[in-house]
Amino acid sequence: MSAPLLVVTGTGTGIGKTVVSTGLVAAWSRRGVAVAGVKPIESGVPAEGGPSGDVRELGQASTFHVTRFTPPYLLADAVSPHLAARREGRTIEPRVVVDWLAPIRSAAEGVVLELPGGLFSPLSDTLTNADLLLALAPTRVVVVAPDRLGVLHDVIATTRAARAVGIAIDGLVLSSVTDADASVGTNATELARVLPDVPVVAVLARASAEELRPSFDDALDALALDRRPDD
Ligand SMILES: Nc1ncnc2c1ncn2[C@@H]1O[C@H](COP(=O)(O)OP(=O)(O)O)[C@@H](O)[C@H]1O
Ligand SMILES: [Mg+2]
Repeated sequence: MSAPLLVVTGTGTGIGKTVVSTGLVAAWSRRGVAVAGVKPIESGVPAEGGPSGDVRELGQASTFHVTRFTPPYLLADAVSPHLAARREGRTIEPRVVVDWLAPIRSAAEGVVLELPGGLFSPLSDTLTNADLLLALAPTRVVVVAPDRLGVLHDVIATTRAARAVGIAIDGLVLSSVTDADASVGTNATELARVLPDVPVVAVLARASAEELRPSFDDALDALALDRRPDD
């Protein structure tokens, strides 16, 4: 038995992927599912001390006890993971991530996995997150994109490039940025026009986790991930 796996990726970094990942972990957990929120690759992690950053946030949101599974690539330097790994004499390998995730998928009832950076951010000189995503063979893929001018380009480019390598995107989440521009309020509708086969499953307000709850409940409904694996 392998738990359903939801991969959260995006059009870039610092755009709300962790907010979306933790929100979906919490929403799924509210349905009585033991959910693990994980981030197998994170850079900018201090060598000493416990887990930090996104790994910690996802662990805290989880209802499955995921903290006993130390992520395989916790990298010190706050640069792209491929560079941070190279500086430590390491190479990020998708197989290592897949093998690390297997016992978590066996024991938990649902897994939400946040990828570092954008969908085509490099993991090594030859591989990107897209290669890792394909190796993970997830149940669903969500792309987070910031709700601002330029998002139509970024989502079209990401979606087309994903399709070209055989990745289907199941849902888009428009995340909120601090400086709202004139495109806010129009982007979801315009995305539906230009990309009718990729549904926008949530448009987030700039708000607290508690206020965002209904948005994530709706997103989970749209993703049809609300059943236990044995249902
Ligand atoms: N909808 C939102 N409401 C409030 N703050 C948000 C929202 N989305 C993102 N943020 C904030 O923006 C910053 C970047 O979001 P984060 O989820 O960490 O991005 P990423 O994981 O893509 O790097 C964080 O400080 C986060 O709390
Ligand atoms: Mg993050």
